[in-house]
Amino acid sequence: MTQDELKALVGKAAIDYVEEGSIVGVGTGSTVNFFIDELATIKHKIQGAVSSSEASTKRLKSHGIEVFELNDVDRIPVYVDGADESNHLLELIKGGGGALTREKIIAAVAEKFVCIADESKLVRRLGEFPLPVEVIPMARSYVAREIVKLGGDPVYRSGFTTDNGNVILDVHSLEINEPIKLERILNNIVGVVTNGLFADRAADVLLLGKADSVETLT
Ligand code: A5P
Repeated sequence: MTQDELKALVGKAAIDYVEEGSIVGVGTGSTVNFFIDELATIKHKIQGAVSSSEASTKRLKSHGIEVFELNDVDRIPVYVDGADESNHLLELIKGGGGALTREKIIAAVAEKFVCIADESKLVRRLGEFPLPVEVIPMARSYVAREIVKLGGDPVYRSGFTTDNGNVILDVHSLEINEPIKLERILNNIVGVVTNGLFADRAADVLLLGKADSVETLT
């Protein structure tokens, strides 16, 4: 199976977690795009969605799925999103697409976070994928210097602006032995909006696309 076929498989499997009549939390990325396309087939059974990015909003609307403002929504039973890496505790690195902050907000609100990924995303230890950090533009150099003190090698994602008008530093070479601790330390640097470690709020379920099946990790 190709990587896209694996993504399509988990995108479809995640539909089982969607509660009838609910507002669905929707992440961002190529795997979630398959989920959005599947969601369109049951759109009459849901109220609509809250979206983590302009890109996902556009795709949801193109399917005629209503997109709600998060502040107008009482309850999100399920949030479905992809990841750049997951360990076996379902702690994640996210933000390859730069949507990490809105993703983290919806994940925090949701009752259940269902992560969908192809098997290449499951790793023994997080950190081979450079960790995205969203930063207020004027703090970029300061935050980069603070990250170097932590042993990281920050690379400015040149030419990219997040949906929130901020910039991204992709941090290489970090030793991520304690993801929750590092997530908090990074978020504590003044000027950081958030970082792509989803460890404090890890996924509840990981649907992993494999050659012949979808494996469910909890
Ligand atoms: C978007 O900012 C990311 O957090 C994505 O969820 C992550 O990069 C996974 O994307 P793909 O499904 O495209 O690999």
